[in-house]
Amino acid sequence: MQPLKKIWMDGKFVNWDDAKIHILTHALHYGYAVFDGIRCFSTKKGPAIFRLQDHIDRFRNSAKIYMMKLGYSKEELINACKQLVLENNVEECYIRPIAYTAYGAMGLNPLKNKISVAIALWEWGPYLGQESLEKGVRATVSSWVRIDSRSLPPQAKCSANYANSALAKIEAVSSGYDEAIMLNSSGMVAEGPGENIFRVKDGILSTPPASSGILRGITRDTVIQFARDMGITFYRNDFTREELFTSDELFFTGTAAGIVPIREVDGRIIGDGNYSLTKRLQKMYDDTVHGRLKKYEKWLTYVRS
Ligand SMILES: Cc1ncc(COP(=O)(O)O)c(C=O)c1O
Repeated sequence: MQPLKKIWMDGKFVNWDDAKIHILTHALHYGYAVFDGIRCFSTKKGPAIFRLQDHIDRFRNSAKIYMMKLGYSKEELINACKQLVLENNVEECYIRPIAYTAYGAMGLNPLKNKISVAIALWEWGPYLGQESLEKGVRATVSSWVRIDSRSLPPQAKCSANYANSALAKIEAVSSGYDEAIMLNSSGMVAEGPGENIFRVKDGILSTPPASSGILRGITRDTVIQFARDMGITFYRNDFTREELFTSDELFFTGTAAGIVPIREVDGRIIGDGNYSLTKRLQKMYDDTVHGRLKKYEKWLTYVRS
């Protein structure tokens, strides 16, 4: 982690090294925190945050599901993100708003604790590595089942969810793979530990529906809108593990990862190596986030204006 200058904590910009919390912070013990992950990209008009409003909406919905009162309006959070990019003087970065139960009471009733809100940012290359975008990744189906709405609501981006993700990730990397693919409790494909998944078969693009127990990714939604605009047949439908193996193309989507081809699943090479649709979507995404496509400029929040 390369330190930057400032972090926003409970309404104030504090120096990077002073952004500290107490060891008895409630959220650290019980995982009671919600967060989001946003990216800011360089454009001809300066740094621009991609789909900031949508990310803040999701952040606020995560907080609502967990009955956390944020104490900041949508506009205040949006402005704090913009201002933080300026304070840190970066062109491209990953932005992490987090709301958590603060120091105070211990025990399992989080409603007794104050909710603190912080926003940090750092410079972060593609999550699965720069090479992953070009060459794709090798994935394995995890033995860990994805959390579901009856245990930890997957549509809330709660810190606790990521213990489930971490177990899958550890299993994948310690077996020599780059990433995990998690099945839901019905045995259908859900998502990666920090990415949604798409499949291409016979020219049809599909992704598991929200009801499969996934986070409704903003990159996923971006790809769906691209597909509609490109006239590609698209369905939200469940698919099985064996349908992963027989796909023509498979890819992950996520703010941190980007659009990443999956070239192999558990020793099966996916398709014939011609990732033509994935590559088209990757290019469209890259052009969009860097402000090169007028049509999608509506998704950019320029921090200097
Ligand atoms: C579990 C999970 N699924 C999917 C995604 C992709 O979501 P987005 O495209 O909004 O980053 C993420 C990342 O936030 C995630 O953590």
